[in-house]
Amino acid sequence: MDILKTKADMQAWSAAKKKQGKTISFVPTMGYLHKGHVSLLEIGKPLSDELVLSIFVNPTQFGPNEDLDAYPSNIQNDLDLAQQAGVTAVFLPDKNEMYGPDYQTHVSLDHLPQYLCGRSRPVHFGGVATVVTKLFNIVMPDVAIFGKKDFQQLAVIRQMVEDLDFNIRIIGGEIIREKDGLAMSSRNAYLTPEQRASAVCLSQAIRLLKQKVAQGIRSVPDLIREAEAFILSFDHTRVDYIELCDPKTLEPVETVQAETLVAMAVQVGKSRLIDNALIELA
Ligand code: PAF
Repeated sequence: MDILKTKADMQAWSAAKKKQGKTISFVPTMGYLHKGHVSLLEIGKPLSDELVLSIFVNPTQFGPNEDLDAYPSNIQNDLDLAQQAGVTAVFLPDKNEMYGPDYQTHVSLDHLPQYLCGRSRPVHFGGVATVVTKLFNIVMPDVAIFGKKDFQQLAVIRQMVEDLDFNIRIIGGEIIREKDGLAMSSRNAYLTPEQRASAVCLSQAIRLLKQKVAQGIRSVPDLIREAEAFILSFDHTRVDYIELCDPKTLEPVETVQAETLVAMAVQVGKSRLIDNALIELA
């Protein structure tokens, strides 16, 4: 497994592979890998000759009061997991390598970032779109895999790939959950044991919403009220948002549609946790 720390080395590596007729699968991450990331690597592995992982905690996608400085890291463990998953190259740049002192270009989308997480994280999706554009230009993959836990991020990237004509196939990997339903996330590492017990509220609220829809409730305000009361019955929780929306445009809906995305962000102690699911009417 090659470890490349500069953009020039990574680009040269990918160019050499392409010259040999090889294809590249790519999983971009911010490190502190867990089974969710590994599942994305497992999707990418059989799709191409080469499997590239990037580890970069991207400062431009964090707002001023977010957890950039506290973001968990364990590079040695990440490299071990990467090796086991059959990664052939790891791109591991530092901040100065990715954003020089004269850096001034940003990628932004008009609509998708206005909804869901974008409301409380106004700079987040611009930062994601910018760094993913850069990573795509550096790694030059044929296929890139992103987790569906970050549903809005996946939507932003799909849109960006279409709008900017990247010749890259984007694949969404299913959410990987702990036994009790908590969606795996690097940010779960911040939870104290008490907060960890409360963190099941997100997946359980989604289950509750699905049950209510199955019972025939279609009013979104009523469903949100129920889910919010349920979540607030757990200690250490503060609801950022619970929304039901169109899965393509992310625009909120007033009544449950044939296909509706339920998405939520809940602050549990210091961790801002997100979860989502598609509700499909039979
Ligand atoms: O999902 C993540 O880990 C990050 O947002 C990404 C896609 C690696 C961009 O920094």
